[in-house]
Amino acid sequence: MTAHTTRPAGQTLFLAARDVADVVNHLGLATCLARVADRIEADFRRWPSFDKSPRSACHTEHGVVELMPVADSTCFAFKYVNGHPANTSLGLPTVMAFGVLADMHTGAPRLLAELTLATAIRTAAMSALAARHLARPNPRVMALIGNGAQAEFQALAFQALLGVQAVRLYDTDPAATRKLMHNLAASGLHLTRCASVHEAVQGADIITTVTADKTRAAVLTAEMLSPGQHINAVGGDCPGKTELHPEVLQQARVFCEYEPQTRIEGDIQQLAPDFPVTELWRVLTGSHAGRQGDHELTVFDSVGFALEDFSMLQVLDDAARRLGVGVPIDLVAQPPNPKDLYSLLRRPAAPFATATPSATAAHSAPQVSPEVDLAAAL
Ligand SMILES: NC(=O)c1ccc[n+]([C@@H]2O[C@H](COP(=O)([O-])OP(=O)(O)OC[C@H]3O[C@@H](n4cnc5c(N)ncnc54)[C@H](O)[C@@H]3O)[C@@H](O)[C@H]2O)c1
Repeated sequence: MTAHTTRPAGQTLFLAARDVADVVNHLGLATCLARVADRIEADFRRWPSFDKSPRSACHTEHGVVELMPVADSTCFAFKYVNGHPANTSLGLPTVMAFGVLADMHTGAPRLLAELTLATAIRTAAMSALAARHLARPNPRVMALIGNGAQAEFQALAFQALLGVQAVRLYDTDPAATRKLMHNLAASGLHLTRCASVHEAVQGADIITTVTADKTRAAVLTAEMLSPGQHINAVGGDCPGKTELHPEVLQQARVFCEYEPQTRIEGDIQQLAPDFPVTELWRVLTGSHAGRQGDHELTVFDSVGFALEDFSMLQVLDDAARRLGVGVPIDLVAQPPNPKDLYSLLRRPAAPFATATPSATAAHSAPQVSPEVDLAAAL
């Protein structure tokens, strides 16, 4: 944990990956998931107070890099996030992220935080929150298809927030399932490794698909399903990247975060633009029904919306300041006279740690301020 001194006005609190993990460990993952789910629910309930837009995305053949902004009247947040399914073969995570919380009154950035771990937490909290309103009451068994970086968080969120007791696992990569079983060994969850998606979904109340493949995959098909199951579809979150066969969606009632973004990125990208979907905030505020019967098939077509990161950043900011985690940094220039930005150039430059011998010699020479140079030139 890094030391946190009193933050002078204008400085930004920086949370590195290690700091975010420290905050989560201090709270306990189950408490953190519950706190984030509550915060997301509270923010979704005041949906009209937010300035919202679909995220901006730059695509390559291998993946996507996205910016996700959202604001209310007091606070602005954005997240930078990528999705590169082949990254794990290069030793990099598929998803990496960082984000900022800023004051809307001044625009001053308040918090800069690494958000890769936080993305997994807020995604799992969002999934569990949606399932609380869309799955049948008292779900006990979940199928978890895709056992990569997000998987532990999904399993533990459904255990902590919905009381799921057993998880049926499948991944095309057996090593991913082994890793997941190892990490969840002490969780109290009953874990079953399955040989196929079809086998994994048998008897499941909830099916979570959280696979990564930049293709129009049909990981889940209609004939695999039983009436009343809830599908938490997390991995189809980008144009040309899906997990559900279109028939699964056609047979279900479909819920989403923010319809304009989900039409572009979600599994419903495969269907007509007027295919009926319900935004989850309408269910949370009671204006629209969630599940309407025990035999109904429900789908949460999750893509990840900026408001979830806004909520996550608020939880991190509150907890980090209370616990004294993180370092205050000069993320943006703060000259003593705000109209004299040029004054920053009048300070002597610090020597560079990686300077070459000739550069070191240049830096060890007496510092000449731009004012003196200017005077000489005149
Ligand atoms: N909706 C959201 O808010 C949200 C948030 C974070 C990540 N995601 C998405 O979730 C997915 C998983 O992310 P991750 O960080 O766990 O990635 P990851 O690469 O760590 O894990 C993905 C796993 O899926 C497995 N897989 C691929 N195709 C499969 C198939 N057909 N059947 C079974 N398993 C398969 C891979 O072997 C891998 O183990 C990604 O697509 C990512 O974009 C969505």
